[in-house]
Amino acid sequence: MAAGKQQLPVALLFILGGVWSFPLVQDTKPAAKLCGYESCHITKPNMLNVHLVPHTHDDVGWLKTVDQYYYGDRNDIQHAGVQYILDSVVDQLLKNPDRRFIYVETAFFYRWWKQQSSSMQQTVKRLVNEGRLEFVNGGWCMSDEATTHYSAVIDQMTLGLRFLNDTFGACGRPRVAWHIDPFGHAREHASMFAQMGYDGFFFGRLDYQDRDHRMIEKEQELLWRASDSLTPPMADLFTGILPNGYNPPEGFCWDQLCHDPPIRDDPDLEDYNVDDVVNRFLVIANSQAMVYKTNHIIMTMGSDFQYENANLWYKNLDKLIHYVNAQQANGSKVNVLYSTPSCYLQELHRANLTWSLKRDDFFPYADDAHDFWTGYFTSRPALFPLVGLDTDFHTFRAMAVAQHHDAVSGTEKQHVANDYARRLANGWQHCQLLISNSFAALSGSFLKRNYCDNLNISVCLPTEILNKFLVIVYNPLARPVTWPVRLPVNGTAYAVSDVKGKPVDCQVSVVPVSKATQEVRRNRGFAINELVFQVQAPPLGYTTYSVSLIQDGPPPASTQRRTPTGIQNKFLRVTFDPDTGLLSSLSNLETKQSIKLTQNFYWYNASDGNNTESNQPSGAYIFRPNSSTPFIISKTAKTETIQTSVVQEVRQWFAPWVSQVVRLYADSKALELEWTVGPLPIDDNLGKEVITRLDTSIKTDRFFYTDSNGREVLQRKKDFRPTWNLKQSEPIAGNYYPINSRAFIKVCLSKTHSPSEIHLPPLQLHRRLLYDDVRGVGEPLNETSDIFPEGLIVRGRLLLSLEHPAAAADLHRPMAEQEVLQPLLAFVDGDLSPNIRHEFSGLQAALPPAVHLLTLTQWDKDSVLLRLEHQFQSRESKLNSQPVTVNLQKLFSTLVVLGVSELNLSANQWKDKMTRFDWTPQKGTGPLQTGCRILLE
Ligand SMILES: *[C@@H]1O[C@H](CO)[C@@H](O)[C@H](O)[C@H]1NC(C)=O
Ligand SMILES: *[C@@H]1O[C@H](CO)[C@@H](O)[C@H](O)[C@H]1NC(C)=O
Ligand SMILES: *[C@@H]1O[C@H](CO)[C@@H](O)[C@H](O)[C@H]1NC(C)=O
Ligand SMILES: *[C@@H]1O[C@H](CO)[C@@H](O)[C@H](O)[C@H]1NC(C)=O
Ligand SMILES: *[C@@H]1O[C@H](CO)[C@@H](O)[C@H](O)[C@H]1NC(C)=O
Ligand SMILES: *[C@@H]1O[C@H](CO)[C@@H](O)[C@H](O)[C@H]1NC(C)=O
Ligand SMILES: [Zn+2]
Repeated sequence: MAAGKQQLPVALLFILGGVWSFPLVQDTKPAAKLCGYESCHITKPNMLNVHLVPHTHDDVGWLKTVDQYYYGDRNDIQHAGVQYILDSVVDQLLKNPDRRFIYVETAFFYRWWKQQSSSMQQTVKRLVNEGRLEFVNGGWCMSDEATTHYSAVIDQMTLGLRFLNDTFGACGRPRVAWHIDPFGHAREHASMFAQMGYDGFFFGRLDYQDRDHRMIEKEQELLWRASDSLTPPMADLFTGILPNGYNPPEGFCWDQLCHDPPIRDDPDLEDYNVDDVVNRFLVIANSQAMVYKTNHIIMTMGSDFQYENANLWYKNLDKLIHYVNAQQANGSKVNVLYSTPSCYLQELHRANLTWSLKRDDFFPYADDAHDFWTGYFTSRPALFPLVGLDTDFHTFRAMAVAQHHDAVSGTEKQHVANDYARRLANGWQHCQLLISNSFAALSGSFLKRNYCDNLNISVCLPTEILNKFLVIVYNPLARPVTWPVRLPVNGTAYAVSDVKGKPVDCQVSVVPVSKATQEVRRNRGFAINELVFQVQAPPLGYTTYSVSLIQDGPPPASTQRRTPTGIQNKFLRVTFDPDTGLLSSLSNLETKQSIKLTQNFYWYNASDGNNTESNQPSGAYIFRPNSSTPFIISKTAKTETIQTSVVQEVRQWFAPWVSQVVRLYADSKALELEWTVGPLPIDDNLGKEVITRLDTSIKTDRFFYTDSNGREVLQRKKDFRPTWNLKQSEPIAGNYYPINSRAFIKVCLSKTHSPSEIHLPPLQLHRRLLYDDVRGVGEPLNETSDIFPEGLIVRGRLLLSLEHPAAAADLHRPMAEQEVLQPLLAFVDGDLSPNIRHEFSGLQAALPPAVHLLTLTQWDKDSVLLRLEHQFQSRESKLNSQPVTVNLQKLFSTLVVLGVSELNLSANQWKDKMTRFDWTPQKGTGPLQTGCRILLE
């Protein structure tokens, strides 16, 4: 996680992506254990070696909740019980020391481990120390790769890997990352895995055209160069694509959930089938070997929730190995063995070949011509803000579970989504308690602090009822922030003063609560106005504002029905078309650049599966519009305008279910578009996929750019894939990419280009579907709730800016950081008091703009875990992409640094112990093309 080169002066630490825990602790002495690569079975160099990998794929929630899966409850929904799987596998491993098993999801393993007797725990430790039970991946869950934010992924990986290290020491450290089920693969995930010390990565799903091409080229095993910024091989990750997704080859599934014939090997009985099984196996092995490079191939022997009765699998695998290898006496050149992904990886490494280099990512994923898994980028948009919620008081298991590839992705059953929401809400309650305790400790006051989770829809009882109250603003960032606060109130005029008692009156306005907001909040709040003012909070700390109602103040700002021609502050000007009420242009007043720009809302009619080309409906995973032309929701918007000294708003109303506030704060370099969409009407029996689109009449460089897990940015091009010749069969769904924090285009302002209408990639906002997409969920994505029985309403914000490329990242990186880690507000009845500490900063000084404080958390009794991140990509900013030096001794105001030890990114290995396999790439692809001039975000 770095830009530029690393330099490590003795006293000062240059910090990028590293992790430290201090003071210095010595690693334990290596015990005489035979786990990891040393415990692998030997292979035969002159034969085709087939690595059989017994495994189970245990979703941390999908059709059942995580606890139902653990216990094996509700087997009427799906037969699956993880506790029995682990019981049974351990039992079977003990029966034959050759047998191997891998386990992946620490959320489940942790539950099981807690319930074992100490003698069973010793037994399991022995299996782990002998490499017979091996952990791979090892995060709390197997995270989704499209919709997760990197900070949450790092946290959930850290949580799982820490448990494994604490419990098993070095033998519990996974060597291989294993994302066999996620629906497409993000480059930032690969970069993180490399920095977490993994030697390799395996997955199961990729675009069917990509796979066909790679099979012909023997490029299903490759080297992924996962960062534009890090010096190779820091973010290089060896990546293997598994031959069968993650299933066994056809005819060889011996789980109780399967129906393949067992090996019947008594010649005296009927149906003796050893010859048949061996021959079928040899055919499959030889044909698989044709599409891989070495004399080693891997077969995943397992699938979803298999091995509940592990005897079935192992008994047949023992026989398979025996009978296939017996053929060697008769000249067969196939050698089958029990193995693990790391043992297989070790053999690929030993082969000492060169591997094709990949620099882009594996999105979007299609498993057939009309089956693009791009719907889940937006499925259940109401769940995402909860999952994205991340304060510095974190590491909650609820958050970790929610990163699972059927949680935040929205691809679970409704009752499971409700379970995740409940867990997150509980986690948040717990978190509030911790925050209150921290405030109490720092301020010296135990006053009751209230939190308002629904400020975005103007619901906050304390601010609505109190005539005098304090607003505590906690800022988790390592630099000061300025932030507009909007509080629901019933009064019309308020006096606001800062922590020193100084009034901030020229920056306080009261505006009426919009109709759209009243409709969303329903009977959860009744305030008629919003008090708006700018707050400034110190780095990693808090400050306090006091607010009091003025009885005879001025009336609140009133709304005007007429569409203004434009609104502007000192940085930006936006204009509106007076006839339509739509945006018509955006100008940067500093750079004097201006573009024509319209924005509107549309919906795609979701395919119901009744089409000639394919019967694939749109669903929770799959996005499939019935037509490439969306319906416009309204050509015109009714508008209302409010202009105050703090904020100007044009409130646009498109339909009973679509409205938007175009908002410009006095100090902001970005225009805010706060949209509210829902409940999506389905009385016409048509599923709907709502988008907003920005259209401009200016040439772009034909590329657009989207972020990967909220970090580095990747270049995209319509109907194009960098590594194969795409046959595009879904012009809309096949051009969708996940966006976590930003997307932009570069616009050429050159006069030589003839202007033509450019549609920027649509941004999908909400979906409501009437059919299941036949990927297992078995329910249409048709969400309702107690408050919204007629369908969910979703609200979100887009920030739009027009910048010169050289300045764009300097604005957008901190802005994205501030959006993800927004200030947290707490409310207290009463006024400032001299006995209470109303302001505090944990830092002696703000960190430089390039450095993001990613983690600061108590690690054990006398050390904290600190992650500092260089948040700029190489070359995106002249100023901020440079290496930075941070002095840890002078960083904190309350912590004394006694010593520092550096760890890998997931904090489960000391940096100086971190060695990874080296891999040689084939001649790489050329540098990515760069575009032309102006950046629009
Ligand atoms: C090897 O071949 C011989 C002769 O065909 C046969 O009798 C024997 O059973 C074979 N061995 C195995 C293990 O198949
Ligand atoms: C790997 O291959 C390279 C070049 O072909 C060779 O120089 C090197 O000695 C080989 N390494 C091993 C361990 O065989
Ligand atoms: C605020 O005003 C609204 C409208 O008059 C009223 O319904 C609501 O009860 C008031 N809230 C409080 C706390 O008085
Ligand atoms: C599918 O479309 C055909 C032709 O438009 C129509 O006759 C048929 O009823 C449709 N089937 C379903 C299940 O909607
Ligand atoms: C969608 O949800 C609504 C509201 O609960 C319900 O009336 C309707 O039957 C549902 N439609 C489908 C296809 O599930
Ligand atoms: C892993 O756990 C062992 C104790 O089992 C501990 O000594 C070691 O410091 C831990 N490693 C890391 C990187 O925390
Ligand atoms: Zn899964």
